[in-house]
Amino acid sequence: MERFARVAAKALSEVLERPVQTSDLETPPDPKLGDFGYPCFKLSKEFRKGPPQVAEQLVAQLNAKKELLGTLEASAAGPYVNFRVPQGEVLQSLLADILAGPGLGAYGKLPEASRGNWVLEYSSPNVAKPLNIYHLRPTALGAALDRIGRYRGFKVTSINHLGDWGKQYGMLAVAFRHFGIPLDMNLSMMELVNLYVQINAEVKKNPALEDQAREAFAKLEKGDPEITAFWQKCVKISLQEFDRIYKRLGVHFDHIWGESFYKDQLAPLLDLLRQKNLLVQSEGAWIVPVTDAQGKELPPCILEKSDGATIYATRDVAAAIYRFSQFAFDRMTYIVGGEQRLHFQQVFSVIRQMGPEYSWISRCEHVPTGLYRFKDAKMSTRNGNFITLEEVIDLAKTRVTELMEARRKNTPEGALPSAAPTDAITEAIAVGAVVFHDLGTDPARDVEFDIERVVDFEGETGPYLQYAHTRCLSILRKARETGVLKEAEGSAAFFDKKLIGKLGAPEELALIKTLGMFPLHLERTLTLAKASQLAHYLIDLTKAFGSFYRECRVLGDDPELSRARLMLVEATRRILAQGLGLMLVPVPERM
Ligand code: ARG
Repeated sequence: MERFARVAAKALSEVLERPVQTSDLETPPDPKLGDFGYPCFKLSKEFRKGPPQVAEQLVAQLNAKKELLGTLEASAAGPYVNFRVPQGEVLQSLLADILAGPGLGAYGKLPEASRGNWVLEYSSPNVAKPLNIYHLRPTALGAALDRIGRYRGFKVTSINHLGDWGKQYGMLAVAFRHFGIPLDMNLSMMELVNLYVQINAEVKKNPALEDQAREAFAKLEKGDPEITAFWQKCVKISLQEFDRIYKRLGVHFDHIWGESFYKDQLAPLLDLLRQKNLLVQSEGAWIVPVTDAQGKELPPCILEKSDGATIYATRDVAAAIYRFSQFAFDRMTYIVGGEQRLHFQQVFSVIRQMGPEYSWISRCEHVPTGLYRFKDAKMSTRNGNFITLEEVIDLAKTRVTELMEARRKNTPEGALPSAAPTDAITEAIAVGAVVFHDLGTDPARDVEFDIERVVDFEGETGPYLQYAHTRCLSILRKARETGVLKEAEGSAAFFDKKLIGKLGAPEELALIKTLGMFPLHLERTLTLAKASQLAHYLIDLTKAFGSFYRECRVLGDDPELSRARLMLVEATRRILAQGLGLMLVPVPERM
């Protein structure tokens, strides 16, 4: 389908005499309208016509140059130009492609590192604070884009920009000393957090501690061995804790380069900015006046405070420059909460002003993520502050166990495995539910968290998709048990051209076309940096599979028809497993 989308986009580019990308094409709400739709709203003003008239005109132009369309058909429907892919071509080539190769195949996969360098920064929590539920947003989206980017041939470099530098680490060092905590004492993350809370309470009584913290951080910046040892301890405890949760989610990074990583690059950076006459002194601090990409003035970017300390933004400017020097990226994406929008505008503006050698800054983007809101008042009164990601996954796990228990009780003997689900299965369902729910929400919007909806087996949830996948597996298993299918699981020999003629029911055709849209949705996900694209697609696919399964008997009397339909079941299994995997949703074999 991707090939056809390219033909449609190219044909439109020709008649419009401007670039049109496949990502500009939408999926019509009703498959009867066609397979791709091009909206004409934006052209309306320029053409001085209503969008439907623009659509009519474009279709007339396209039809006058039939060679552009090849076998595609174009038609106007309201404000859209719709394109339809011819039936015969789709069936054969799509199924052959999806079923090629062993295992899950590699449909829509592009050769490794065949496309540009993409630096993706995500997760980036702060040391000495637990991974909060709101960290799931940038972590899950980043990890999904990371996997999809690699699948689609980008050379991805993932970076976790830990917040591990700044005065608060001076404060922690003061706390260790103040409370007489020996360096070799075992501390948990929560104990570390409490230490920070307690020292801040002390500061209220004894403001001199504040100065001590500032001094301690200054010493840390100079590499003082004692303070460095305290700091290292905090980083170590935090990383161990983060790793445990990253493992549960299946997240890992090419580089964990925290803010401290750039500490020796800050003085040279400030010198360079001074040489370039960009730094201005203001109230004792050194700042750079900045604008947004359109040139509108913004609050200035402070790079050195009046006490000589560098700040968060200084380290981000250094980090961007360093990363470009290492990876010469074609795109760099920061997946960070929306509240840091101004910060990134400031950082980008500083670099933009550094001169033409820094024009790569236009290839950097901040993808803002929304927050979490809780329906359950008990959770929101906890101030959103200490609801850890781990607590939420565990909560989901409890809910999964309850639901599965209830389901087992309500099904007749023998219809479901009588043994309780293993821990691995409830874990997979819980993680899948929480992650899918997050990724299914437009990243810029806030997530409404209601555990009953997140884990709902019937709603448009992770478990619903996992369940569709296990259903495909069980149909295939049954086909093998009854001898209809001889091929082993994940066999490459699934596709049989002779059987194609057996297919033709509308639900079969709709399912095949939906399967074929997979690569396009992967590409759209990357362009828009929104995994919700892929999430919605997988739900549509599951629905298309549901209609097919309801209307078309897979294991019937005609063995050839059964085998033809089993090709569709296997193709669906592959795309679902592949798609869910790319979204960090584990696919258990049974549920
Ligand atoms: N550590 C920061 C926080 O938790 C996020 C860092 C985002 N990335 C960056 N390059 N500034 O708020």
